[in-house]
Amino acid sequence: MARERIVSGAEQPEDKFQAAMSPALRPRMLTEYIGQGELIEKVRIAVAAAKQRGEPMEHVLLSGPPGLGKTTLAYIIAEEMTGVAPKITSGPALVKPADLVGILTNLKAGDVLFIDEIHRLSRVVEEYLYPAMENYSIDVVMDSGAHAQVMTIPLQPFTLIGATTRTGLISGPMRSRFGIAHHLSYYSPADLLKIVSRSAELLKLPADKDALLQIASRSRGTPRVANRLLRRVRDFAVVRSEGKVTMEVLDQALGLEAIDQLGLDALDRRFLAVMARDYDGGPVGIEAMAATMGEERDTLEDVVEPFLLQIGFIRRTPKGRQMTAAAYQHLGLDKPAEKEDGSLF
Ligand code: ADE
Repeated sequence: MARERIVSGAEQPEDKFQAAMSPALRPRMLTEYIGQGELIEKVRIAVAAAKQRGEPMEHVLLSGPPGLGKTTLAYIIAEEMTGVAPKITSGPALVKPADLVGILTNLKAGDVLFIDEIHRLSRVVEEYLYPAMENYSIDVVMDSGAHAQVMTIPLQPFTLIGATTRTGLISGPMRSRFGIAHHLSYYSPADLLKIVSRSAELLKLPADKDALLQIASRSRGTPRVANRLLRRVRDFAVVRSEGKVTMEVLDQALGLEAIDQLGLDALDRRFLAVMARDYDGGPVGIEAMAATMGEERDTLEDVVEPFLLQIGFIRRTPKGRQMTAAAYQHLGLDKPAEKEDGSLF
């Protein structure tokens, strides 16, 4: 279902448009990157070591919910290593091995190839990537039938950066070919405050600190959401308070978007309400939830669930997802009585 969802981490058309119209909010160098300390440290060391050896950096696998900076980091690594943008493609765009041949043979020494949604590569394309990643070579079949010949084509050494919202869907052989594999976690409010403060400065937007802190704490731990909220509030500020972001305009803007104190939006709350009302709080499988809500399973799994899990509003059980007491309290619903074994239902 098409829906504009301001707290979705998923990239929306508005983000691309804004990126083209506003000064770039994305950090371009490692030193500008805020948060994800452990990952940034690993990347910093890998970049420095690769440069010293005069080799491309090892392959990097980044996983985590949308909007946390996986693509941004690919751009930064490419910038730090080569000064040129990464070559970008995605799992669903690479249908057959031939789709990869052109991309791989056009890479120059040291280039960064970014494959988004790498968990959606088909098995044959995935296996075709292995020798490219390991030995910088690919096998191409020339001719067919009795005259078929396999030619090994050497490639320029390159760095593959794979991004996925689903760590669990990456095969063991694939994962083992990445030198660095890291799961990006949600950002702390303190890091998000630094990010929106930096963005406000880049946008030359006067803002009260408590208003920025509110944006940070209502952004579901996601920089893309924080920057999107900031731009929404900026529009309000222009019309209502001579351009300054204050608590007052913030409350009005976020109230209109139906974003609550925890950053949950209408879709998050509907997810919980359906779970409480139609499934007695669970356990319920994700397919059943998607069908009842009329939403894509992927949206629920990639965007809605991870955050609700993170804040302890749902938990995973062998029988499906289950709502916690904290979620009932937040929705203002009565929590059903606990059974003797401590479970809710
Ligand atoms: N803008 C969006 N994400 C950012 C990050 N992690 N650091 C700095 N600026 C950002």
